[in-house]
Amino acid sequence: MAAQPGPAPADRAREAAVEAALGKLDLDAKTRLLAGRDTWSLPALPEIGLTSLVMSDGPIGVRGVRWTADDPSVALPSPTALAAAWDPELARRAGTLLAQEARRKGVHVLLAPTVNLHRSPLGGRHFEAYSEDPYLTGVIGAAYVSGVQAGGVGTTVKHFVANDAETDRFTVNNLVSERALRELYLAPFEFIVANARPWGVMTAYNTVNGTTMTEHRRLVNEVLRGEWGFDGCNVSDWTAARSTVGAIEGGLDVAMPGPHTVYGAPLARAVRDGTVAEAVVDGAVRNVLRLAARVGALEGAEPAVTEPPGPVDGAALAREIARRAFVLVKNDSGALPLRPGTVALIGAAARDARVLGGGSATVFPAHVVSPLDGLTAALPEGTLSYAVGADPVTELSVAGQGFELRAVCRDAAGDVIGTGSAPNGAIQWMGSDLPEGVTHDRLHTVELTGTFTPRESGPHTFGIKGSGHFTLTVAGTTYYDETQHPAEDGDRFEAFFGAPVPRAEVALTAGEPVAVSLTFVVALPDDIPFEVVAFALCHQQPRRDADELIAEAAEAARAADTAVVVVATTERVESEGFDRTDLALPGRQDDLVRAVAAANPRTVVVVNSGSPVELPWRDDVAAVLLSWFPGQEGGAALADVLTGAHEPGGRLPTTWGPLADAPVTRVVPENGELAYTEDLFIGYRAWEKEGRTPSYPFGHGLGYTDWTYESVEVDGTTAKVRVRNTGERPGREVVQVYLAPAGSGPGRPARRLAGFAGVQAGPGESAEAVVELPRRAFEVWDEASDTWSFVKGSYEIQVGRSITDRRITVTINV
Ligand code: BGC
Repeated sequence: MAAQPGPAPADRAREAAVEAALGKLDLDAKTRLLAGRDTWSLPALPEIGLTSLVMSDGPIGVRGVRWTADDPSVALPSPTALAAAWDPELARRAGTLLAQEARRKGVHVLLAPTVNLHRSPLGGRHFEAYSEDPYLTGVIGAAYVSGVQAGGVGTTVKHFVANDAETDRFTVNNLVSERALRELYLAPFEFIVANARPWGVMTAYNTVNGTTMTEHRRLVNEVLRGEWGFDGCNVSDWTAARSTVGAIEGGLDVAMPGPHTVYGAPLARAVRDGTVAEAVVDGAVRNVLRLAARVGALEGAEPAVTEPPGPVDGAALAREIARRAFVLVKNDSGALPLRPGTVALIGAAARDARVLGGGSATVFPAHVVSPLDGLTAALPEGTLSYAVGADPVTELSVAGQGFELRAVCRDAAGDVIGTGSAPNGAIQWMGSDLPEGVTHDRLHTVELTGTFTPRESGPHTFGIKGSGHFTLTVAGTTYYDETQHPAEDGDRFEAFFGAPVPRAEVALTAGEPVAVSLTFVVALPDDIPFEVVAFALCHQQPRRDADELIAEAAEAARAADTAVVVVATTERVESEGFDRTDLALPGRQDDLVRAVAAANPRTVVVVNSGSPVELPWRDDVAAVLLSWFPGQEGGAALADVLTGAHEPGGRLPTTWGPLADAPVTRVVPENGELAYTEDLFIGYRAWEKEGRTPSYPFGHGLGYTDWTYESVEVDGTTAKVRVRNTGERPGREVVQVYLAPAGSGPGRPARRLAGFAGVQAGPGESAEAVVELPRRAFEVWDEASDTWSFVKGSYEIQVGRSITDRRITVTINV
């Protein structure tokens, strides 16, 4: 057996610096280092030259330590979109940009990527994970981690493990077989550890097979560290650490956020009374110091990256990823690219674009290019009309358009102690992120005050998100002066992710400003162990008659050569903290599409959602383009693709189909338990097993040219695939290789994605895709022997454009 290479000299030198620093710390300093100093950072320890390590979400941008539009970030397309590009190099470049953003914001560790799987389309954070396939997830995740870390910034691959839905996420006990864990849910983590050597991992809120993940000694210490050799730092998900001894013995290095955690003083006490060995604490401290050394926060240790890569143009990259991610699932009679002529653009999301998913993944871009902005810039003047058609937002949203607000902070005596800016109606102050001069001790009330200038006349609804005592005044009248209680089944972070409650309806006139004020008596929810002030003023436009809006849009469609309808989900449909209960588009959007399609046979539908939605009208329209949450430049990228300046490059990273046919729909635990009874059969594995035909299969996506598959040559485990561009313009093809064992094997899925490669060719040219088939594709987890087992025999190598559009098959024996 070949000798394993030892650590590189730089690693050895860094380890020596880490040991030296560790040796200088006393028990109190060590245990303090393992607990958040505040919401986003660890304490500095000047005695060893350690600066405070700062962490931030992730994954589509770097929010920084402030949760506000005052501190903007580049917003890239959603992770589902990044995966849809099927291009690790593009994911790596996204990582490089994010490292640059992190450095700009003083962030050392990015809380990303999310590599949980699309077990069920109902999962609320589906948009934030890559794929239903563990291999594709691993490849994209590893490239992303490599990109971020090549910029000298750490990552925490999350959420380890089986955090695949949101219902009761803090407590749910997911019951998963060892084989499904190994072959599906652990697989992306394992791949990323092996291929990108991440500097961090985040352990999940949930329990797996009876043990909460922040205490899961077997999966963390034995599997992640022991078997796979992970040498990074293990950070808890926010508030996930529950017990001092359980967590430290279970391999959790850092309990976030602080200052009130199970580490720090309670951990020092546990060592002093002999319950925990100091050597165990040392192990965790070593992991934190190693992370600090790698990111350059420990004096005397050489950072892993001394010269970060050159500057990346964030806006240009966001636009490139978006168009490379759009999936054209249907394009009858060449409806796209658009021909010269007039275009009726329809849909609320065409004007007020939904560019990112909600929850902790939220960042605040400096600007957003909506589809209306993008097409206005790209199309000749006078050729574009716009109609709302239908509004997907069926409830209030955070006050934004038309509001001019600021926050006034007062003490208990009513004296003003500070004022802060409020770019929109949401106040989300954490830790020391308070307006100048304000402290949590003195702060008694926050008043959001300013004006609202309506865009439309009619009854406007105002409401409140959050819990506590609120006073709401609009145009001089107080409409609410009471205590709003949290929803009984709400998430702990409801003030961030919960539902707004309507509290006032006020008739207003377009263009005439009115005074608005919302005062909150600051109170911390009992179960949030860190300092936070969070609430929001919410608003809803007057509701116009829905039938009238649809009729107006149909009229606009009839008058134009092409109709482009943008349909969307909302923040109340796809976000953190809850799961979906159906896959329908909210509001009257399905009726809208049907009416527009009846008025104009050349109707193109753009689906602006992070995860699958039902498209019941898909047979009635000419083209369907999935745009995901396309990031801040989404509208510009959409114009690139609709006009044909670029082809849409995406392929589905997850199967799209109606909920009634979806194989895995259970995301709600029973008596605290969620059994993964489908075992190995999620995503395409399950659709195939059930013999069901989805609307659009895994891997599917059309470009603007055509491809033929000419030959496949297999040499050992290398497949060489020759494809030819038979269309009229240059293009990129994602050559997909599926591996199908002969016979069903030991309970194996019919086939699995074993590899893929992107190739480019001009019209008439051919190109060769070279795909290495990994050994793991031939292996199954053998529960009897607790190891991977290579399954010998005959396999079909099936090469094609999607899991169902397989063009060439060759058989091999291994
Ligand atoms: C989420 C994590 C996130 C953390 C910090 C948690 O609620 O589950 O993904 O990184 O908050 O915002």
